[in-house]
Amino acid sequence: MTPLVELAGIKKDYYLGAQTVPVLRGIDLTVRRGEMLAVMGASGSGKSTLLNIIGCLDLPTGGSYRLDGKDIGALSRTELAEQRNRKIGFVFQQFNLLARATAQKNVELPLLYAGVPAAERKERAASLLARVGLSGFEHHVPTQLSGGQQQRVAIARALVNRPALLLADEPTGQLDSRTGLEVIALFQELHRETGVTVVMVTHDPSLAAFCERIIRLRDGVVTGEERVEKPKVAREELNRLSP
Ligand SMILES: Nc1ncnc2c1ncn2[C@@H]1O[C@H](COP(=O)(O)OP(=O)(O)OP(=O)(O)O)[C@@H](O)[C@H]1O
Ligand SMILES: [Mg+2]
Repeated sequence: MTPLVELAGIKKDYYLGAQTVPVLRGIDLTVRRGEMLAVMGASGSGKSTLLNIIGCLDLPTGGSYRLDGKDIGALSRTELAEQRNRKIGFVFQQFNLLARATAQKNVELPLLYAGVPAAERKERAASLLARVGLSGFEHHVPTQLSGGQQQRVAIARALVNRPALLLADEPTGQLDSRTGLEVIALFQELHRETGVTVVMVTHDPSLAAFCERIIRLRDGVVTGEERVEKPKVAREELNRLSP
């Protein structure tokens, strides 16, 4: 089977006036289906830029990207948006929920874009909210939820369309360490239950150790790669912490 993500020689330049700023300088990366991968690197090393390219939110300025066997560079804008909506779920550091919409409506949104009928939208969103432990919070708006709860809404929204690929950019960056660990536990469990491929950006080595493989970026190139023999289990770590 083809890998889910195949990047070859990916480059990204930004243009600031007459100046070219190379941010990604030739990234080769393959992510196999069902893998859970951590991307690490210092601030400014290009992690978010890389994740946005993998997520089809941004296009590279060089190299080739095959997502699920499809050459992303050959797609029109509409086709690109369609690939993104069908195959990818995003979780961001800042949660990025719609402020005036309830948890339920936030989770339904990708289904609305996908043209899923209202009754099915409602049912699928409610069942994912239950799965992330938010039954009873369906009608709360983001300001009525804690940070950890908001991130769980965002995770439900990312998964409601049953994407093949879940991308997370510093998903625990706004959370205290215990709440962050709970978010990672949820990722690990959803990964195991659904087989979704996960790519998570973090600069916290203790969080990367929950993934099966770690790649390191520096100045827009991959400088290292490591397979984690026995990834830590977040639920076990949580159980070890005092209640
Ligand atoms: N739109 C842009 N225009 C110009 N330069 C940009 C743009 N977006 C990012 N950059 C530059 O690209 C580099 C990499 O940025 P990126 O956001 O990918 O880093 P990062 O590894 O995610 O950092 P952090 O850990 O702080 O989130 C930075 O030097 C940044 O200034
Ligand atoms: Mg970043």
